[in-house]
Amino acid sequence: MNRIYASPKLLFGENALQGLEELPPGPICIVTDPFLVTSGGVKAVTQVLDRQQRSYTIFSEIEPDPSIQIVSRGLQHIFRHKPDTVIALGGGSAIDAAKAILYFCVRFKAGFMDRKYIHKPYFVAIPTTSGTGSEVTSYAVVTDRENNVKIPLSDQVMIPDMAILDADFTKTLPPDLVANTGMDVLTHAVEAFVSRQANDFSDMYAKSAAQIAFNHLPALYRQIENQTLREKMYTASTMAGLAFTNSGLGINHSIAHTLGAQFHIPHGRANAMLLPYSIAYNAGLSPYRKEGVPHRYAELARHLGFDYLDDKMASRALIAVTESLNQLLGIPSSLKALGVERPVLEEKLDGCIQTILSDMCTASNPVEITPVELRQLLLDVYEGKALWK
Ligand SMILES: NC(=O)c1ccc[n+]([C@@H]2O[C@H](COP(=O)([O-])OP(=O)(O)OC[C@H]3O[C@@H](n4cnc5c(N)ncnc54)[C@H](O)[C@@H]3O)[C@@H](O)[C@H]2O)c1
Ligand SMILES: [Fe+2]
Repeated sequence: MNRIYASPKLLFGENALQGLEELPPGPICIVTDPFLVTSGGVKAVTQVLDRQQRSYTIFSEIEPDPSIQIVSRGLQHIFRHKPDTVIALGGGSAIDAAKAILYFCVRFKAGFMDRKYIHKPYFVAIPTTSGTGSEVTSYAVVTDRENNVKIPLSDQVMIPDMAILDADFTKTLPPDLVANTGMDVLTHAVEAFVSRQANDFSDMYAKSAAQIAFNHLPALYRQIENQTLREKMYTASTMAGLAFTNSGLGINHSIAHTLGAQFHIPHGRANAMLLPYSIAYNAGLSPYRKEGVPHRYAELARHLGFDYLDDKMASRALIAVTESLNQLLGIPSSLKALGVERPVLEEKLDGCIQTILSDMCTASNPVEITPVELRQLLLDVYEGKALWK
């Protein structure tokens, strides 16, 4: 049986934040990060709540790549204040932290009561990056800092009930965040499209998301003040989220999770750097794997306007596009260029391979990668060896 999760109630465009007037009664908890407090983002939300005379608490301790410890502090906050609504405001980290808090809250209660009697707070996600698409997905990623491992969680209970896209929030994004988060969007779209679990519904969102990101990301990188461009990338981000929550991702994300946690590389930056390599490997263009799904990459490349006849040629065109985008956005093309020392990588390599193979995203990759191939791929990514040339 196949199953499609369409979307939370999605509010976007001018005055989208007024959607907060539709919340169910009862206390509210806002989960956010310190930047959103100082930048005035939280105030934009509380102003709407104040007008409605709603009572709320603010948990603003979320850090980038939220740790298990932060999630557990958030859980204590929730148990203390018992909100009927949780509003997550921030990038993927704040939204994922709120999701993980709700996930563990429900699991904890399920330990001693029937799940059907558990009251899960109404959940609103307001992304301030574009982004992870977390506002529409059933995924969250938490980090185990002791072992430097990112743990992806997946459960429908984490799908928000309402998502609000208000492009005023993304005005403050600096160029490097536009680049990293925008390339995360493109990676979601590409991986969702070639995933083993891709279907007509996820394809529709993946194609549109890739096209919008491809057309508008370079311009947004230079003109964050342009509201139309900000709205476009917001749309692309949410569409890419709708694609991959229904199809899964692939090794690009599993590798990014592991390298990101081990070497402290921002999620989108790691994904962007890896994208040409994962396409080359999965399209059968690498020296160590000659078969793969070039026809799927070719279909996406053709949708983007690269009308080549041959599937492998079209896959190469897609690689060239991602390489040029990375160059334009100032994203390094290898682990070495990101400042990782080779002996440090070699020392961690066996552990990294194990973690990547057991990451849930690896299961939906279109090609089953072997440990030997993965080792070679990681070393080539380190050196920046263009596998496809
Ligand atoms: N749940 C999912 O489906 C999913 C998908 C992809 C990634 N992720 C996870 O999401 C996290 C990354 O999220 P992200 O890329 O959105 O970044 P983030 O939430 O980690 O934020 C990065 C930095 O940007 C700041 N920031 C946020 N909004 C801003 C704004 N409007 N202006 C200026 N600064 C702003 C934050 O304060 C933070 O310092 C990672 O932990 C990643 O693993 C989750
Ligand atoms: Fe991602």
